[in-house]
Amino acid sequence: MVSMRILSTFAVISAFLFLDCEVESCQTTISDSNRRDCSPWSGTNQASCEARGCIWCPHETSGIPWCFFNDHVCPSLIADGEKVDCHPESGASRESCNNRGCIWCETSTPNTPYCFSDPTVSQGGANCPSDISDHERIDCHPDSGSTEDSCIKRGCHWCTSSIQDVPWCFAPKTTGYTLVGDVTQTAKGYTATLDRKPTSSWYGHDIARIQMDVEFQTNSRLRIKIFDPSVARFEVPLNISSTSAALDPLYSVEFSNSPAFNIKVKRASNGATLFDTSLGGLVFSEQFLQFATKLNSHNVYGFGEHEHHSLKHDMNWKSWGMYARDQPVTHGANLYGVHPFYMNVETSNLAHGVLVLNSNAQDVTLSPLPSLKYRTIGGILDIYMFLGPSPENVVQQYTQAIGRPVMPPYWALGFHLSRYGYNDIQTLKDTVNRMRAFNIPHDVQHGDIDMMDRRLDFTYDPVNFTGLPQYVRDLKNEGTRWISIQDPCISIGEPAGTYRPFDLGQSMDVWVKESDGVTNAEGRVWPDANVYFPDYSSTSCQSWWKQMSIEFHSTIEYDGMWIDMNEPASFVTGSVKGCYYNQWNNPLYKPRVYGDVLADKTLCGDYLQSFGSHYNTHNLFGWSQSPVTQEAVQEVTGKRSIVLSRSTFPGSGSTSVHWLGDNHSLWSNLHYSIIGSLEFNLFGIPFVGPDICGFGGHTTEEMCQRWMQLGAFYPFSRNHNGLGWREQDPGILGAEVARVSRESLEIRYTILPYMYTLFHHAHIDGSTVMRPLFHEFVTDTATHAIDRQFLLGPAFLVSAVLNEGKTSVSAYIPDARWYDWYTGAEVSNSLRKSWTTLPAPLDFIPLHVRGGYILPTQQPANSTMFSRLNNLGLIVALDDNEEASGDLFWDEGDTKDSFENGEFDTVEYTAVPGILTGITSNLGYAGLFGMEYETVRVMGLAHYLDITDVRVNNQQHNLFTFTSSTGVLDIVNLTLPAHEDFSITWTAL
Ligand SMILES: *[C@@H]1O[C@H](CO)[C@@H](O)[C@H](O)[C@H]1NC(C)=O
Ligand SMILES: *[C@@H]1O[C@H](CO)[C@@H](O)[C@H](O)[C@H]1NC(C)=O
Repeated sequence: MVSMRILSTFAVISAFLFLDCEVESCQTTISDSNRRDCSPWSGTNQASCEARGCIWCPHETSGIPWCFFNDHVCPSLIADGEKVDCHPESGASRESCNNRGCIWCETSTPNTPYCFSDPTVSQGGANCPSDISDHERIDCHPDSGSTEDSCIKRGCHWCTSSIQDVPWCFAPKTTGYTLVGDVTQTAKGYTATLDRKPTSSWYGHDIARIQMDVEFQTNSRLRIKIFDPSVARFEVPLNISSTSAALDPLYSVEFSNSPAFNIKVKRASNGATLFDTSLGGLVFSEQFLQFATKLNSHNVYGFGEHEHHSLKHDMNWKSWGMYARDQPVTHGANLYGVHPFYMNVETSNLAHGVLVLNSNAQDVTLSPLPSLKYRTIGGILDIYMFLGPSPENVVQQYTQAIGRPVMPPYWALGFHLSRYGYNDIQTLKDTVNRMRAFNIPHDVQHGDIDMMDRRLDFTYDPVNFTGLPQYVRDLKNEGTRWISIQDPCISIGEPAGTYRPFDLGQSMDVWVKESDGVTNAEGRVWPDANVYFPDYSSTSCQSWWKQMSIEFHSTIEYDGMWIDMNEPASFVTGSVKGCYYNQWNNPLYKPRVYGDVLADKTLCGDYLQSFGSHYNTHNLFGWSQSPVTQEAVQEVTGKRSIVLSRSTFPGSGSTSVHWLGDNHSLWSNLHYSIIGSLEFNLFGIPFVGPDICGFGGHTTEEMCQRWMQLGAFYPFSRNHNGLGWREQDPGILGAEVARVSRESLEIRYTILPYMYTLFHHAHIDGSTVMRPLFHEFVTDTATHAIDRQFLLGPAFLVSAVLNEGKTSVSAYIPDARWYDWYTGAEVSNSLRKSWTTLPAPLDFIPLHVRGGYILPTQQPANSTMFSRLNNLGLIVALDDNEEASGDLFWDEGDTKDSFENGEFDTVEYTAVPGILTGITSNLGYAGLFGMEYETVRVMGLAHYLDITDVRVNNQQHNLFTFTSSTGVLDIVNLTLPAHEDFSITWTAL
């Protein structure tokens, strides 16, 4: 039942007292409906009204105020100190203020809002029901300019709210569809036919009858597909299917037709509701689709790509737009990729994930009910749920559906150096020579667009970079690989017959078309002339791009490809001609994304690609470029490679890796880089990292030193810099920065066998590499919001300094035994499950190893070409039961599909009290033969007074030290063959 609040604010009393007034006697230009009551109290008369500076003008219609503000001045009596800001975000004007039903008064009093709430309105009105709380509201007017009138026209409710960002115009709970007949069972689940409830339209072209198919795809995966059964709409060409219904699902579903049709998904084990659309708000029209769901808890992670300031989302009515955009990293902006995926850690500490597989411009609003509202302007609502129940399970199930992460080559785990703006080869050589001089590991050098001839793809500058092809070969011989950048767009300005990428592309007709399907879309990016946009969804374009990539390799023998600008970016809006004004370029609802129009910095929505209109496929541009680039690079190098893509979408991780785009040399960006990297691990792209030391802006020695320490532990470790900024390679900022960079990277190189094995698990099982603490300690709610520390895999904890001038870190010690990386000493047991302060002088980064795990290591070197020749080691971190385990995946490092072809070795390590064993299996790769373990460190033996006897494969081994104060046993000078099983025992005789 809806109980209406009574509108009680108009000066009805004054009407009673002054019945004899002359109605015609007053003169005002303010219309009846614009009268704002200046005296909602009884007893007002003309004198008291005019004393307030208001206009007295009796009216014969009851309800219209007689005493009202002269709207041209300040229409309020509220004292400055009592004004409640109605427009806390910037950009308030008299008009936008009045549109909110608020009052606009300009004042010179400091810290006083010009736009403030009107207490006479905030009590509600005739259109304001009381049965929907502020936080239950579903925005009925997500486009701007909502007024009470425009709201009521949509059949929605209008109530003010004093809570920031709560919509004032919101949908009745009955908004949505109603069931036709019954929900019927199908081979895979259920199907329901739904008819739209008769209400006003928000954006027109509502689809009267829709269908909801519920598929029990696997025991952990559920699909809810809402679509138009009579007209095919765009669907993302990513097939996530199953042939029959799961037999023993972790979930159950319930349907209800009241107040509108809704679905609930519950966890079978505990009955918890995970997804619940009973708030209403289901809209399915041609260019506006929406659903709202209650969430199980406030622990929400994911959605991208954005600069989030916390890993765990702020649920206070925050909205995030998603539309691939060439946008320097900015809080609140939609960035390069689109990932409509979130994870929710439930109140029971079990976790599930949800993907909305949709590639249109879209946005999501998170609110504290907790709930979320998802809106998109095309395609269908194709919702996949992953039931976990652990956070890692969620990512494993998600990547099983969208594609497991690509296995990077071993060398890609080394350190990368890059900058835009070396500008000439001597500067590049000087930079590389600094790396050599300081002996800083350097596995990969990148070449950005300044190395191209006039920014033309598949060229190099023969003047400023003369000799580059030979230099690349020289670097590779020394152990430093090369990655070349390519932008998608191709210059059309070169004389015919002189620029093959254009000539061949033209003859193969590989370009994105304007809406006529014939004219090539023409935009503008880095080259001097205009460009065409390759349509990577067409097979002719794929062959052309592959051909060009392969041919370029005979010029620059690159090992990997960096594909930038593939949102796709353009420096003009839509095209050099602009865009037509139509429903695709100017949809009635523009999701909350940057730019006045969707075509801002990209193509027009009505342009055409092989797999659909740009309107539908914009977010798939980079996604469609990655697989063919990966194929090309593998074909021409004959090796496993990496394709580093700026724009990504669900599934991109199976062919490409990612960096976090154009960040800034700001201290805050150290923190945000951890959040962004953890999010991409959630999105199935574990090989990720930001530009160490920042892309834009001048770094400082201290910042870059701290960032190199932290950056040594990103899955993708690359220092990259923008044009014109101060040099920031680790050799340029002084001997101290160089030393600290080398030492941090040497720790990375030491644990590369462990990291490489983590990538193997990501590739095979879909687990994360860089991992939030809550993935490992989910039952400890204190970990749920931690995003300044992170783990590599389950066992390696990084607690870097992220602030200027700090020489300590406030760190959480999760519930396990932990050992200091450097000394092997155990973190005091009393600190478990608590925050502590770790000392961290400028040249030190706190690192800890978790009890219960065994990490394979290798002696570091200046590149993986040399480190892979060095001896192995093991770090054994014992748990409470004096046990530990771990494994090693080892292969050639860059052979294609080594796992799939069985060309690898694995070793399983197990420790129980007093005994460590290694058991090899598979042995499909000969490279482990001839390698040896040289050292084993066992940590966690402080309860032994001494260790007097160590045996290796039952033979006494005398070369060891035991430090009783720390409980660390270091066994050295081993010559244990890595391809054989072994056992090592230690005892106190
Ligand atoms: C070539 O190098 C010179 C000297 O470093 C520089 O001034 C010039 O801008 C460079 N040209 C290009 C095209 O980058
Ligand atoms: C890298 O180190 C190896 C030894 O591990 C050495 O032979 C080689 O010269 C070094 N390379 C460079 C470029 O410094």
